[in-house]
Amino acid sequence: MKDFLRINDFSLEELRGILALAREQKPAARAHTLAHSHPNRQLACVFAKPSLRTRVSFEIAIRQLGGNSLFITDKEIGMGTRESVKDVAKVLSRFVDGIMIRWFDQGEVDELAEHATVPVINGLTDLLHPCQVMADIMTVEEHLGSIDDKNVVMVGDGNNLANSWLNAASVFPFNFTLTCPAGYEPDEAILAAAEAAGASFRITNDPAEGVDGAHVIYSDAFYSMGQEEEAVKRRQDFAPFRLTNDLLAGADKDHIVLHCLPAHRGEEITDEVIDGPHSVVYDEAENRMHAQRAIIATFMK
Ligand code: CP
Ligand code: NVA
Repeated sequence: MKDFLRINDFSLEELRGILALAREQKPAARAHTLAHSHPNRQLACVFAKPSLRTRVSFEIAIRQLGGNSLFITDKEIGMGTRESVKDVAKVLSRFVDGIMIRWFDQGEVDELAEHATVPVINGLTDLLHPCQVMADIMTVEEHLGSIDDKNVVMVGDGNNLANSWLNAASVFPFNFTLTCPAGYEPDEAILAAAEAAGASFRITNDPAEGVDGAHVIYSDAFYSMGQEEEAVKRRQDFAPFRLTNDLLAGADKDHIVLHCLPAHRGEEITDEVIDGPHSVVYDEAENRMHAQRAIIATFMK
């Protein structure tokens, strides 16, 4: 496979290989002694949405390997408006050695990958956020050991993160629960694929029932980038799904709390939880860089 677009395009062995490389390189990267395996390789980083973690971690990761990055926004390239997705793919492939893209429509990212001759890495679409979930699995395993048989419970929206967790549960043997309000379930095709793959997952509209026995609690914004107009309604619909110490009383006593960030403190997660003893959100943010460096190293040969 040329591209890193969705987690369930890969076998457990391939994904475990990426995570092992991420773990192996982390100490050297932090000590600034990482060998330059990718000298002068150029990574185009294309953004149609804002970013802190994805932009900075990809830019730093490619530099740590000896390469360079270019920051390009949708306003410059106008992919699909100023010129076709196909032409952008063909031209960018003549200039750079890899493309990381944060976009709205997953279909356009798939089309870009189809026509690009260099690897395309999915840096978030409305449908998926696979790099985030790779960093999340790395973080879970640093704190709790193997993710196998763990209960991973996402509290909130059936969004791009929930979809990517479902894709991950189709490959890794953990149990995934999404607890969300009725009407905010994940993508139907992804649910069907998870079912067909024999993934262990369930969806419940009762947050207390959902978090019962959880080893990993996962949170994300109630409204994603591009859904700002729905914020008022979503704040009401999701109110019972706010992470508080009371809600988390039923989780495993050694549970960890993850949030992909950015967080709306006091909305989907309270200060007491995000700043509390179970929270590992900053380890998780740092691991974006380590997991993505391993993805770059694996795909940008
Ligand atoms: N978690 C994440 O992708 O953060 P950014 O939107 O800041 O990149
Ligand atoms: N679901 C969020 C994730 C942000 C990293 C969004 O798409 O905005």
